[in-house]
Amino acid sequence: MGAALAMNIAEKGFGIAVHNRSSEKLDDFMENVGDLEDQVTPAESLDGLVAALGTPRAVIIMVKAGEPVDSVIESLSEVMEPGDLIIDAGNADFNDTRARHAALSEKGLNFLGVGVSGGEEGARHGPSIMVGGDREAYAPIEDIITAIAAKFEGDPCADWLGPDGAGHFVKTVHNGIEYADMQLIAEAYGLMRTAGVSLGDMAEVFANWNKGPLQSYLIEITAEILAVTDSPTGKPVVDIIMDKAGQKGTGRWTVIEALKLGQSATTIEAAVAARSWSAGKEMRAAAEDAFPGVRDAVDLANADLEAALLAARIIGYGQGMALLAAASEAFEWSLDLARVAEIWRAGCIIRSALLDEIASGTREGLQFDQLILSPAFVERLNETVPALRRVVAASVSSGQPIPAFAAALSYFDTIRRARGTTDLIQAQRDFFGRHGFERVDKDGTGFHGPWAE
Ligand SMILES: NC(=O)c1ccc[n+]([C@@H]2O[C@H](COP(=O)([O-])OP(=O)(O)OC[C@H]3O[C@@H](n4cnc5c(N)ncnc54)[C@H](OP(=O)(O)O)[C@@H]3O)[C@@H](O)[C@H]2O)c1
Repeated sequence: MGAALAMNIAEKGFGIAVHNRSSEKLDDFMENVGDLEDQVTPAESLDGLVAALGTPRAVIIMVKAGEPVDSVIESLSEVMEPGDLIIDAGNADFNDTRARHAALSEKGLNFLGVGVSGGEEGARHGPSIMVGGDREAYAPIEDIITAIAAKFEGDPCADWLGPDGAGHFVKTVHNGIEYADMQLIAEAYGLMRTAGVSLGDMAEVFANWNKGPLQSYLIEITAEILAVTDSPTGKPVVDIIMDKAGQKGTGRWTVIEALKLGQSATTIEAAVAARSWSAGKEMRAAAEDAFPGVRDAVDLANADLEAALLAARIIGYGQGMALLAAASEAFEWSLDLARVAEIWRAGCIIRSALLDEIASGTREGLQFDQLILSPAFVERLNETVPALRRVVAASVSSGQPIPAFAAALSYFDTIRRARGTTDLIQAQRDFFGRHGFERVDKDGTGFHGPWAE
């Protein structure tokens, strides 16, 4: 990722010095730098890297998240001077970013926590970039960041979003939404596979969906992936891939932070859980034998699956946006949610046709921070949720696993009830713990029920 970003920066006409702790990687990079050689200064050490920069210096760190970031920051802070800038452009737990920002401020060093999305291809040719930290620290590098970012109809998909951990938090939630979207697509694929749809036909279905409201990078690559054959075996490539999904932490961080903020991004949580469960391959095989029960193919119309995916995708984005709003309030970031959606419209992994609509809907103002209550999405959900309900109902009664579809629908059905069932929860809490409750007919709190002593 670091190499791709460095090439992108050099290609846009900026001089850059580069360093990697493994000198052979640096040599490889310089061998492949081609015409950009004059723009790039290789540095064998961090000291050399810092010495190659003009002042005030700006260094972008793009290393494995966690301890390696702390160790590189530690080394850099010994050789950098007050007024210089360190930018962590990798993924980071925003709590770490806040702590690093505070610690470096004490040394007079500026620090930006920057989320970069788009994979290696994006980093090389135009990612979406989410900047967090002191606004004044961003100003000197803004031209570089906007030059290397993806553009949506000319608008750079990069911006300063808020102080300290705001950029990394937004990137984390972006990834959480990405987890949900990938899981929903995988569930649709699973339903079609068990119904006997061939991979070739499925690739066409996804390619057609990519021409409609589901148009997105993830649907597009799914169509491509399904059509690829593994050359040594002649089998479809998905058939030779082990069904165990990896994860590096951003999905889990999204869910943890959602719970800490009194939110619950259940569609994202279902996706994170599904990846975690996938690791227990042998246990799943034992459970398959132990519970033979119903496991029938579900006969679903393509149009129903398409609409169900759209409804669940909207609900997943909505949960992510509500989480951003809650974090913004808790950490006093004043996040511009519409701007967040705008800079996700190109370059990043969750780029989709829907994001332009989300940006416009959010710009008009969200009631209760709920994307799904914005007029355009009320209409879309009224149109598509019946299909989501048919997909969930048919899958559940046929024993097909659809954790993310089901989570999206459960959330939707729960929040569209003005009066729910937590009256009974409050009664139970008061019964065993005298926790008190509010009444529907009187103001105030702390009422108790007439329970027997
Ligand atoms: N890959 C993606 O699509 C993607 C997308 C967005 C964000 N990110 C984020 O970008 C960052 C970099 O990701 P990556 O995909 O390039 O791979 P990575 O495996 O996360 O990082 C590889 C780089 O980290 C360096 N490194 C590891 N431990 C180090 C240490 N203790 N001290 C100094 N350098 C160390 C490696 O050096 P050596 O070469 O010497 O091992 C290499 O340059 C991560 O935070 C990742 O989450 C990745």
